[in-house]
Amino acid sequence: MTSQDLFSLANHNIIITGASSGIGRECAVSCSKRGANVFLIARNNERLAETLSMMENNINHQIIVFDVVDFDEIEGIIRSIVAVHGKISGFIHCAGSELILPTISMKATYYQEMYNVNVVSAFEFAKQIAKKKYCSDNGCSMVFIASVMGTLGQIAHVSYCATKGALIAGSKALALEYAPKGIRINTVSPAQIENTAMTDNMLAKMSDKNKMDILSMHPLGLGNTQDVASACIYLLSDAARWITGTNLIVDGGYSTR
Ligand SMILES: NC(=O)c1ccc[n+]([C@@H]2O[C@H](COP(=O)([O-])OP(=O)(O)OC[C@H]3O[C@@H](n4cnc5c(N)ncnc54)[C@H](OP(=O)(O)O)[C@@H]3O)[C@@H](O)[C@H]2O)c1
Repeated sequence: MTSQDLFSLANHNIIITGASSGIGRECAVSCSKRGANVFLIARNNERLAETLSMMENNINHQIIVFDVVDFDEIEGIIRSIVAVHGKISGFIHCAGSELILPTISMKATYYQEMYNVNVVSAFEFAKQIAKKKYCSDNGCSMVFIASVMGTLGQIAHVSYCATKGALIAGSKALALEYAPKGIRINTVSPAQIENTAMTDNMLAKMSDKNKMDILSMHPLGLGNTQDVASACIYLLSDAARWITGTNLIVDGGYSTR
């Protein structure tokens, strides 16, 4: 096998949540360029179709309109993919939500709702995909998109920081539990990524000074969706066959200070 082949995803069936936008969309396009069959999950059908139109090898991919917090339906989705396309080799959990709110304004339900999307759905998908009847006989790699805020604080982000920290910690437990089955579990932690709906929403609430401050906190400047997708491709591929339970920080130096 050449070193270039190590990064191939040819004939891999890969499920991506949050594929209708931003980082998840870029991951879907990048996986298709590496030869994967991609199953695109999010709630917005039109935006999923837009992602599909940007992908290579268009006939092999499939859109699945689905709210990732409908936990009882997850196994049915995996089962129907496997029945038609074969077993699953990869999973990227990109679906996520953010809430910028001072703690005084938080309510218990806000934490619970975000925890369901950002954390529980990742682990529920992982639980189903890991079953012998659904998981590729050659093993499987799962990547959860966390955040630098999973290990660093940020004002008015208590629920977001808490959920991303939980994702990072829980993935390590999963990695240990599933290693004997040849399943690798890792997180990717980006800092600020330009031109996603989540970032645009955050920047819209900031003064020009705060925006300049954010920029100056990234020694290499802000990142783009391809920077995160490339890290995911690596972790999904055979090039990362000995890597599990790690949190790959992709942050342009943000957390180096
Ligand atoms: N942007 C950044 O700077 C940054 C930095 C660090 C980490 N991240 C993380 O990266 C991930 C992607 O962020 P992004 O910036 O690409 O955000 P985005 O453009 O807002 O995308 C979020 C995606 O999540 C999907 N989603 C949200 N709730 C869902 C639900 N209940 N069921 C199914 N899909 C759902 C959305 O699709 P629908 O609305 O169509 O359902 C959309 O595709 C998130 O986990 C985020 O926390 C982002």
